[in-house]
Amino acid sequence: MSLHGRDVVSIRDLSRDEITGLLDSARKMVPLAEGRRASPLLDGKIVAMAFFEPSTRTRLSFESAVQRLGGSCLTIADAGATSLRKGESLYDTIRMLSSYADAIVLRHPNEGAARLAARASDRPVINAGDGAGQHPTQTLLDLATIRERFGTLAGLKVVLLGDLKYGRTVHSLAFALAEFGSELILSSPEALRLPEEHRDELRRQGAKVRDQPDLAKAVREADVLYVTRIQKERFADESEYREVAGSYRIDGRTLADAKPQLIVMHPLPRAGEIAPEVDATRHAAYFRQAFLAVPVRMALLNAILGRPGRGG
Ligand code: NCD
Repeated sequence: MSLHGRDVVSIRDLSRDEITGLLDSARKMVPLAEGRRASPLLDGKIVAMAFFEPSTRTRLSFESAVQRLGGSCLTIADAGATSLRKGESLYDTIRMLSSYADAIVLRHPNEGAARLAARASDRPVINAGDGAGQHPTQTLLDLATIRERFGTLAGLKVVLLGDLKYGRTVHSLAFALAEFGSELILSSPEALRLPEEHRDELRRQGAKVRDQPDLAKAVREADVLYVTRIQKERFADESEYREVAGSYRIDGRTLADAKPQLIVMHPLPRAGEIAPEVDATRHAAYFRQAFLAVPVRMALLNAILGRPGRGG
């Protein structure tokens, strides 16, 4: 596998073998991510964090990953503090950043921004979320969480719950899970259904996919319940948001008939979709998922930037 110097804009940029290799390497990175061992794999490398949309986990876990591997970060955490405010184009900002850093991690509100940035940059660009488009590194850590629990990514029944229209995490994850042979069960308010373009693609992939708007039924058959936040910031009209706000919530009662091995995942932040009482149950996997962000991003950065031949 060689990801050296490559952009990761969409999960489709990675083959199944590359994904499997990254998950294997991420497993070896766990002691480094926990700070139990040090490693200089990114010694002397500078990674730019260009975040033009709010982020907590994604940016901080990327920064933690870089620093635990001995590299350093240049961070834009507030678009208002950059020359974009003066009218500079994203193209120019990225082009300039690519002469200051060895790789760029970009989050941006516009779908397609990461593809544009990859063209502007002569250094690798990693998409950390582009509008309602893609969030490939979230998918890698979601897959790592599922594989850690079940030992496989094939043959599982995965319920994708919530905002399947605007949620970039599910747009990336659905494709990957289908590639690995899991079954997708889509459960969303009617107004937030998975868009046709994604359904078409899943059909072309030969994915096993169906709708189950009845949450109780969906939960009963699930191995994985992947809950998402309604992406309020993507609605053109606030009243449309109010119509769907609060339309689903996972709590002890919802999980009463779940399979014992069910795991509940969420990319976080949660905004009321999972009751805090679920945290103490054996089903809760979302905090483990948030931790796995660090070793997974370490593995990816090392594959893209590390010296070829040096694994985790
Ligand atoms: C997600 C995102 O930004 O798409 N968060 C994350 O990266 N962990 C999900 C969300 O904001 O709802």
